[in-house]
Parts: sequence; C-alpha cells; structure tokens
Amino acid sequence: MGCKLNYTLPRRQALGSCFYSPRLQLVGVLTWFWPVDTAGAAKIAASQHNHWCSVPYGEVLEVDSGRVDNPPMSTSSHSPSRIVLGVTGGIAAYKAAELVRRLRARHAEVQVVMTEAACQFVTPLTFQALSGRAVRTSLWDAASEAAMGHIELARWADQVLIAPASADILARLASGRADDLLTTLCLATKAPVSVAPAMNHQMWAHPATQSNVNVLRARGVRVLGPASGDQACGEDGPGRMWEALDLAAALFPAVAAGPLTGKKVVISAGPTREPLDPVRFISNRSSGKMGFAVAAAARDAGAEVTLIAGPVTLCTPPGIQRVNVETAEQMYRAVHEAVVGAHVYIGAAAVADYQPAACAHQKMKKTSEHLELHLQRAPDILSSVAALEQPPFTVGFAAETNDVERYARDKLTRKRLDMIAANEVGVDRAFDRDDNALLVLWAGGRRELALQSKDQLAREFIAVVGERYQLTRHPVVTLVPQAS
Ligand code: C5P
Repeated sequence: MGCKLNYTLPRRQALGSCFYSPRLQLVGVLTWFWPVDTAGAAKIAASQHNHWCSVPYGEVLEVDSGRVDNPPMSTSSHSPSRIVLGVTGGIAAYKAAELVRRLRARHAEVQVVMTEAACQFVTPLTFQALSGRAVRTSLWDAASEAAMGHIELARWADQVLIAPASADILARLASGRADDLLTTLCLATKAPVSVAPAMNHQMWAHPATQSNVNVLRARGVRVLGPASGDQACGEDGPGRMWEALDLAAALFPAVAAGPLTGKKVVISAGPTREPLDPVRFISNRSSGKMGFAVAAAARDAGAEVTLIAGPVTLCTPPGIQRVNVETAEQMYRAVHEAVVGAHVYIGAAAVADYQPAACAHQKMKKTSEHLELHLQRAPDILSSVAALEQPPFTVGFAAETNDVERYARDKLTRKRLDMIAANEVGVDRAFDRDDNALLVLWAGGRRELALQSKDQLAREFIAVVGERYQLTRHPVVTLVPQAS
C-alpha cells in the first residue's frame, strides 16, 4: 500500500513587460494620486438631556437612560477577561468610550469606574450603555457597595486599566492614596495595573509627573504611552492618550494568535518626496493612514511588523518597528533590507512613479517663463520585491478612477503579485474620507470589502491576506491512500 501526495502549489502570474502610470500630472507640482485616509476619531456626545453616543463606523447607539443592573459577579473560572476600566478627568475621557467597545469586542467584561472629575467630561450613562454595567463612581454608594463591595471588585478584576490617566491620578497612585474608589481599588487589587497617561505635554514633562511615573513603573505598573501629537489645548507634544485600538491590543497580547502569528510582515506606507533642489520636491497627497491602519491590523493579527514610512505626520502604532524614509530610492533600499526573511510584503505606499533626473545643489532661480523638468522612472519597489528569487507573499494597492477591476487585474499580472487591493478614487471616493471600500483580487479569486471605517477595513483586509497567505504558502497536504 503506497501513498500519493496531493497538494496545490501557489500559482504565479505571468511576468508583465512594462509599467506606466497614467495618473501622473504635472501642474505646478506633480501629483500622484492615492487614496488619502482620514481615520475617524470617536465623536462622543452625551449629556444628561441628550443621551446619544455617536461611535465610529457610522453606528449610532441608542442609550437607555434607565438603570442597568450589573450581572451577577461569579468568582468561578471564566474565559473572558474581566477588566476594571478606570476613567479619570481629562478631555481624552471621550476616547475611553471607544475603548470599552474595543475591549468588549475582545469578549472582555468591562466594569467602568469613574472619578468625580471624569464625570465632568463624559456622563456615566455613556459608559453604562457601552459596557452593559452600571458605572461605579463612589466609595460611598451604599447600593453599589451592597451589590459588590470595592474589595470584591478589586478581586474580580483580571486587569485594571486607567485610561485616560490624568497627572492627578498618577500622583495619587504613586503616593498610595486611597481617597476614592479608583485609588482604593488599585491598592486592593492583585491584578496587574496599567495606566494610559493623557495630559498637556508640559504637565507630562514636569519632573513631578515623571518621578511619579517612575515610581509606578518600579512598582510594576505598566505605562502605556502617551503618544505625541496635537493636543486638545492646541499645543503639540507627548501627552495624547494611546488610541483605543492600541490600548486594547496591549491588554490582550494573546489575541495576537491570529492568521499572521509569528510572521514577519513588511509594510510600506505614505508618500515619497523626490527633491528638485534643496527646498522643493515632487510628492503626492498620501497621508499614509491606510498603510498605518494596515500595519496596526497586521500587528493585531500576530505579525512582527516593520513599517517603512514616507514623510507623514502619523504616530507609530505601538509594537511596530518604523523606518522613516523620504525618497523612492530610500524606500526601495529600506524595503529590500527589511524583506530579507519576511513572509509578507504589503506595498501600500504612494511611491513616486517618476523622479527628477538630477537634484540641483542650490535653489533654482526664476530666470525664464517656462521651466522644463527632466524626470526619470523611479524604481518600482513592488515589482522588484515580487521578482526576488524567493519573494514574500507580495500584496500591492491600486487606486483607479475607472475600470477598477480590469486595471487592477492587469497590475496583479504585470507585477507578478500574489494579491492586489483596488479602490476607486475620485470625487467623494477614498480621498479625505474616514471610510473606504476595497476590491481584493488574486489569481482566480476576488473579495469585496464593503464601505466602512478605514481601521475596520484594514482588519478585514489583513484577514484576507492571512487567509490567502496560509492557502498559497502553506498548502493543505492530503494523503490519499493508493491501492498497491
Ligand atoms: O502601478 P501603480 O503605481 O498604480 O501601482 C501601485 C502599487 O505599486 C502600490 O502597491 C505601490 O506601493 C507600488 N509602487 C511601488 N513603486 C513604485 C510605484 C508604485 O512599489 N515606484
């Protein structure tokens, strides 16, 4: 009795011959169009009189103003994580509403505990509706304490996360105060405590805050963030709370057991800048947000992610290695260095198709009515990766204004890609929008990903990448018994 080994090898596409991008325009400055992402932030509006909460992804939750009784708290073994989410007083408190959703999406039970100051920013009702549990705000609420005392709550928690964590709570925790429910819980719990600081950058930089943070770190408190960027006060610097998605991912490393677990994924994102002289360059409208969202989604799917980023103003998603580049040549070199040993390469960058043949050493002068620029082809990074002897699973992006599927399929074949994600660009499509849709194509297959927020779209897209990667790079082997 022998065995026949049946398996399917990944199909490769025929080699394309040339490359030409008709989108290139030279109108004062060259513009290479690419989907511009404007990922949405949660917009929360809730007041005692107007109980509604607008959350990302176009979903509007009706908030029931009636009381929600907490489900009984069992102390027996449980599968979902139990999280006490402490919300303190700061403008970032509105982001904690999305965090509750993110945690619940990971099957966590979330008990929100708000400080008095936090209630000035968002009402407990918002968190009640999102968590499905009555929010705890006081040590002195006899009814809540009767239902579950603060010590019981401290025992119930698998993790305590304080987000946003104000300078005040950091100080109170560092000095071991127990003057409200949240600080008391933190003293009474054996569960790991994490804090996501959010405050004005001067407050964050103040030696008092830094010393408190060091004390907390030394005691084993995990400090998640803060991120740098625009602040509600109009200033710029470190002090922004990490995004909900990043906080949820940090709390659930086990969720990283996704389709790309342990895989090395390289993603290029953002525009490139091709210098004309020391002060001018040719670039495009790419914000890099789609590529960054894809990088965060790949990380959440368990991948070890390297992000090669053109010049963008985005913060690096936590847990991702970022390499900054400027020109197409630099991106080419950085990508080729990073893809050695990589399993997947996703080219989401809007790389220049053409670059100036020469860069003037000094600023070019207005000496004539007309100026002719001599441009030459920039390296096609995507094709060059796909053409490697042992290429990673190679995925491209295609932005088309018409005949999306036909042009994208042509690109899939010409560039010898494993997969391509196409979208239609134009007025009210893809550009400057919070949402987008993608048509994902591969040899002999397609998947339409519906219009949705770009973060969510990136997750669905990564799920398809993981699925196709598994199918083509790890084909299922079936043993078929053969009659001898
Ligand atoms: O042919 P087109 O430029 O539309 O192809 C878009 C895809 O090719 C994207 O994935 C982009 O990152 C990649 N690309 C590249 N190098 C270039 C131009 C585009 O890697 N010079």
